Amino acid sequence: MKKLCSLDDFKDVQVLGFDTTGDGEQDIFVIYRDGQVFAYRNSCPHTGAPLNWMPDQFLASDGALIQCQNHDAYFQIEDGVCVGGPCPGETLQPVNVSIVGRDILIDVTS
Ligand code: FES
Repeated sequence: MKKLCSLDDFKDVQVLGFDTTGDGEQDIFVIYRDGQVFAYRNSCPHTGAPLNWMPDQFLASDGALIQCQNHDAYFQIEDGVCVGGPCPGETLQPVNVSIVGRDILIDVTS
């Protein structure tokens, strides 16, 4: 496990994207909600494209669902299942993360 960020980074936001490969693209995103963290690869099951057009923009306007900006697929935050749009029932690829103290750790093998 490797430190990705701190819970303090989520003071004003609910979701952040991260470049874990060093290529300048946000390849994963992490959502912090109700004391839990959820993380997914930034790849839409519809086409494989990144979900976001702008950095850290991964949620629908009400913050209740993940939104792919390309063709408006919507995914549940807790399990990444698509519940609306062009790929219903398909899922985002989860990334294993955990909270230790105030750090969010990522499983670099996932
Ligand atoms: S690429 Fe995500 S909805 Fe089409």
